[in-house]
Amino acid sequence: MLKKCLFPVAGYGTRFLPATKAMPKEMLPLVNKPLVQYGVEEAIEAGLSEIGFVTGRGKRAIEDHFDTNFELEHQISGTGKEKYLDSVRRVIDKASFSYTRQGEMRGLGDAILQGQRLVGDEAFAVVLADDLCLNDGLGVLGQMVELYKQFRCSIVAVEEVPREQIHKFGVIAGNEIKPGLWQVTDMVEKPPAEEAPSNMAIIGRYILTPDIFDLIRETPPGKNGEVQITDALLAQAQRGCVLAYNFKGRRFDCGSVDGFIEATNYVYENVYLPEQAELENK
Ligand code: G1P
Repeated sequence: MLKKCLFPVAGYGTRFLPATKAMPKEMLPLVNKPLVQYGVEEAIEAGLSEIGFVTGRGKRAIEDHFDTNFELEHQISGTGKEKYLDSVRRVIDKASFSYTRQGEMRGLGDAILQGQRLVGDEAFAVVLADDLCLNDGLGVLGQMVELYKQFRCSIVAVEEVPREQIHKFGVIAGNEIKPGLWQVTDMVEKPPAEEAPSNMAIIGRYILTPDIFDLIRETPPGKNGEVQITDALLAQAQRGCVLAYNFKGRRFDCGSVDGFIEATNYVYENVYLPEQAELENK
């Protein structure tokens, strides 16, 4: 069954400079938790406990975050402050963490290909931590794992977006096989609005079968001169089956400042305050 989840985290986060000059963008806090921890918690909830990061220069803070900080633990041991480490301790207990580097920034497809060293020859999930997905019930990855058990093929998460934003996404077209689930027939990376095959945009959650690695190797650089996972997935769809799933839940684009602020406000009200109230009662 699915156990592994890749997090491509080599990107620079230029939109958040200077905050991201010496700190990975994935470590920017949404209130009191770094963005990447939300993604890792979603993976663990979905039963994916082998977490692999495809990193780059300047990303060491991510490794330190998912590790024990003995000095800090010692300092606050036995004090009322220990409870603030609960969430990350839980994550560290439940998952294992491995790292590999993407030497050159050659696109998301290439980043995923570098992850083959961590994944091997089995199906795996991919989370783009910039896309924060929150849901009252089972998280998006959990929903996709359920679908994978049924269909055993690659699955991408999709969401309807306004036409004027479609050029920022990979876009799918397909045959709806049941409400909210399409068999993909076409996929284009960041098309101009007038060329987009639909307004269903790919969101940063994927389940990929391992034949994707050879397909990525055969994929020439595409949009922006980068190796695109969207192009490799189209090849996979043409040879076999790729599904697109309109997930239940709310997505925030934390790769943009506006989306990040929106997510911060939402998380403060709906996640942070209730969690604090619970902690105070402990
Ligand atoms: C990537 C993918 C794109 C997808 C998007 C979702 O683009 O290439 O297909 O729609 O993530 O966030 P990026 O936003 O990293 O440029």
